[in-house]
Amino acid sequence: MNKTAASLFVIALALTACNPAALPATSNPGNPATPAQPSSEPADPGLKVAFADVEGIVQQRCISCHSANPFPQGGISFDNPADIQARASRIRLRVVQQRNMPPGNSTGMTDAERELLGRWIEQGASRD
Ligand code: HEC
Repeated sequence: MNKTAASLFVIALALTACNPAALPATSNPGNPATPAQPSSEPADPGLKVAFADVEGIVQQRCISCHSANPFPQGGISFDNPADIQARASRIRLRVVQQRNMPPGNSTGMTDAERELLGRWIEQGASRD
Protein backbone atom coordinates (compact mmCIF):
# COMPACT_ATOMS: atom_id res chain seq x y z
CA MET A 1 0.00 0.00 0.00
CA ASN A 2 1.56 3.19 -1.12
CA LYS A 3 1.72 5.96 1.14
CA THR A 4 -0.55 8.54 -0.09
CA ALA A 5 1.45 11.45 -1.01
CA ALA A 6 0.68 14.42 0.98
CA SER A 7 -1.21 16.80 -1.06
CA LEU A 8 0.07 20.19 -1.24
CA PHE A 9 -2.59 22.62 -1.52
CA VAL A 10 -1.04 25.42 -3.23
CA ILE A 11 -3.10 28.36 -2.81
CA ALA A 12 -2.78 30.10 -5.96
CA LEU A 13 -3.37 33.66 -5.58
CA ALA A 14 -5.67 33.87 -8.50
CA LEU A 15 -6.57 37.33 -7.70
CA THR A 16 -5.97 38.58 -11.14
CA ALA A 17 -6.64 42.18 -10.74
CA CYS A 18 -8.81 43.47 -13.49
CA ASN A 19 -7.85 47.03 -13.58
CA PRO A 20 -10.52 49.22 -15.16
CA ALA A 21 -8.15 52.13 -15.17
CA ALA A 22 -6.57 50.67 -18.26
CA LEU A 23 -9.68 51.11 -20.39
CA PRO A 24 -9.14 53.31 -23.44
CA ALA A 25 -10.31 56.79 -22.98
CA THR A 26 -13.59 57.36 -24.71
CA SER A 27 -13.18 61.04 -25.04
CA ASN A 28 -13.75 62.49 -28.47
CA PRO A 29 -10.77 64.59 -29.37
CA GLY A 30 -11.83 64.71 -32.98
CA ASN A 31 -15.14 66.30 -32.20
CA PRO A 32 -16.15 67.81 -35.56
CA ALA A 33 -16.41 71.49 -35.25
CA THR A 34 -19.99 72.27 -36.06
CA PRO A 35 -20.45 75.99 -36.06
CA ALA A 36 -23.96 76.91 -35.10
CA GLN A 37 -25.80 77.46 -38.32
CA PRO A 38 -29.32 78.77 -38.01
CA SER A 39 -31.00 76.20 -40.24
CA SER A 40 -34.34 77.83 -39.64
CA GLU A 41 -33.24 80.58 -41.96
CA PRO A 42 -35.50 80.50 -45.04
CA ALA A 43 -33.94 80.22 -48.45
CA ASP A 44 -32.99 83.57 -49.82
CA PRO A 45 -36.18 84.80 -51.44
CA GLY A 46 -34.11 87.01 -53.67
CA LEU A 47 -34.98 90.39 -54.95
CA LYS A 48 -38.55 91.36 -55.55
CA VAL A 49 -39.56 90.24 -59.01
CA ALA A 50 -40.86 93.08 -61.12
CA PHE A 51 -44.06 92.29 -62.95
CA ALA A 52 -42.55 93.85 -66.06
CA ASP A 53 -40.04 90.98 -66.11
CA VAL A 54 -42.83 88.42 -65.78
CA GLU A 55 -44.70 90.03 -68.63
CA GLY A 56 -41.59 90.05 -70.76
CA ILE A 57 -41.11 86.31 -70.27
CA VAL A 58 -44.75 85.56 -71.03
CA GLN A 59 -44.57 87.66 -74.19
CA GLN A 60 -41.49 85.83 -75.32
CA ARG A 61 -42.34 82.25 -74.31
CA CYS A 62 -46.11 81.95 -74.07
CA ILE A 63 -47.98 84.52 -76.10
CA SER A 64 -47.46 82.75 -79.43
CA CYS A 65 -49.95 80.13 -78.19
CA HIS A 66 -51.84 82.02 -75.52
CA SER A 67 -53.28 85.03 -77.25
CA ALA A 68 -56.71 85.82 -78.63
CA ASN A 69 -54.83 86.57 -81.82
CA PRO A 70 -54.80 84.20 -83.55
CA PHE A 71 -56.13 81.64 -81.08
CA PRO A 72 -55.82 81.04 -77.34
CA GLN A 73 -54.55 77.47 -76.88
CA GLY A 74 -56.43 75.68 -74.14
CA GLY A 75 -58.74 78.67 -73.95
CA ILE A 76 -56.02 80.57 -72.12
CA SER A 77 -54.84 83.98 -73.20
CA PHE A 78 -52.21 86.10 -71.57
CA ASP A 79 -52.96 89.27 -73.48
CA ASN A 80 -53.60 91.35 -70.38
CA PRO A 81 -51.66 91.64 -67.12
CA ALA A 82 -54.77 90.56 -65.25
CA ASP A 83 -54.92 87.38 -67.34
CA ILE A 84 -51.41 86.44 -66.26
CA GLN A 85 -52.04 87.26 -62.62
CA ALA A 86 -55.31 85.33 -62.54
CA ARG A 87 -53.53 82.18 -63.77
CA ALA A 88 -50.63 82.41 -61.33
CA SER A 89 -51.31 79.14 -59.54
CA ARG A 90 -51.76 77.22 -62.80
CA ILE A 91 -48.63 78.83 -64.18
CA ARG A 92 -46.73 77.63 -61.14
CA LEU A 93 -48.10 74.12 -61.58
CA ARG A 94 -47.42 73.77 -65.28
CA VAL A 95 -44.31 75.89 -65.73
CA VAL A 96 -42.46 75.59 -62.41
CA GLN A 97 -43.56 72.27 -60.92
CA GLN A 98 -44.57 69.98 -63.79
CA ARG A 99 -42.46 71.88 -66.30
CA ASN A 100 -44.68 70.67 -69.15
CA MET A 101 -45.57 74.14 -70.33
CA PRO A 102 -44.64 75.35 -72.89
CA PRO A 103 -45.29 71.92 -74.45
CA GLY A 104 -41.98 70.36 -75.39
CA ASN A 105 -40.46 73.69 -74.37
CA SER A 106 -41.04 74.73 -77.96
CA THR A 107 -40.31 78.36 -77.18
CA GLY A 108 -37.00 77.61 -75.46
CA MET A 109 -37.84 78.73 -71.95
CA THR A 110 -34.81 78.73 -69.65
CA ASP A 111 -34.57 77.39 -66.10
CA ALA A 112 -33.86 80.92 -64.90
CA GLU A 113 -37.13 82.09 -66.42
CA ARG A 114 -39.05 79.27 -64.72
CA GLU A 115 -37.36 80.14 -61.46
CA LEU A 116 -38.25 83.81 -61.86
CA LEU A 117 -41.92 83.05 -62.52
CA GLY A 118 -41.94 80.74 -59.48
CA ARG A 119 -40.41 83.44 -57.32
CA TRP A 120 -42.91 86.01 -58.55
CA ILE A 121 -45.74 83.71 -57.46
CA GLU A 122 -44.04 82.95 -54.12
CA GLN A 123 -43.86 86.68 -53.52
CA GLY A 124 -47.59 87.02 -54.01
CA ALA A 125 -47.95 87.40 -57.79
CA SER A 126 -48.47 91.13 -57.60
CA ARG A 127 -48.63 93.39 -60.62
CA ASP A 128 -46.05 95.88 -59.47
C1 HEC B 1 -46.68 75.75 -78.33
C2 HEC B 1 -47.86 76.30 -77.72
C3 HEC B 1 -47.84 76.69 -76.28
C4 HEC B 1 -46.94 77.50 -75.64
C5 HEC B 1 -45.71 78.17 -76.21
C6 HEC B 1 -47.40 77.62 -74.29
N1 HEC B 1 -48.53 76.91 -74.09
FE1 HEC B 1 -49.66 76.79 -72.40
N2 HEC B 1 -50.98 75.56 -73.33
C7 HEC B 1 -50.86 75.11 -74.62
C8 HEC B 1 -51.92 74.16 -74.88
C9 HEC B 1 -52.15 73.41 -76.19
C10 HEC B 1 -52.70 74.07 -73.70
C11 HEC B 1 -53.93 73.18 -73.42
C12 HEC B 1 -53.50 71.75 -73.17
C13 HEC B 1 -52.82 71.57 -71.84
O1 HEC B 1 -53.31 72.03 -70.81
O2 HEC B 1 -51.73 70.98 -71.83
C14 HEC B 1 -52.07 74.98 -72.75
C15 HEC B 1 -52.54 75.20 -71.48
C16 HEC B 1 -51.97 76.08 -70.58
C17 HEC B 1 -52.51 76.39 -69.29
C18 HEC B 1 -53.84 75.89 -68.72
C19 HEC B 1 -53.73 74.46 -68.30
C20 HEC B 1 -53.87 74.31 -66.83
O3 HEC B 1 -53.37 73.29 -66.35
O4 HEC B 1 -54.43 75.17 -66.15
C21 HEC B 1 -51.67 77.26 -68.70
C22 HEC B 1 -51.83 77.89 -67.32
C23 HEC B 1 -50.61 77.49 -69.61
N3 HEC B 1 -50.80 76.76 -70.74
C24 HEC B 1 -49.54 78.32 -69.34
C25 HEC B 1 -48.52 78.58 -70.24
C26 HEC B 1 -47.41 79.45 -69.95
C27 HEC B 1 -47.23 80.23 -68.66
C28 HEC B 1 -46.62 79.44 -71.05
C29 HEC B 1 -45.32 80.17 -71.24
C30 HEC B 1 -44.34 79.95 -70.24
C31 HEC B 1 -47.25 78.58 -72.04
N4 HEC B 1 -48.39 78.07 -71.50
C32 HEC B 1 -46.74 78.36 -73.32
C33 HEC B 1 -49.93 75.49 -75.54
C34 HEC B 1 -48.84 76.31 -75.28
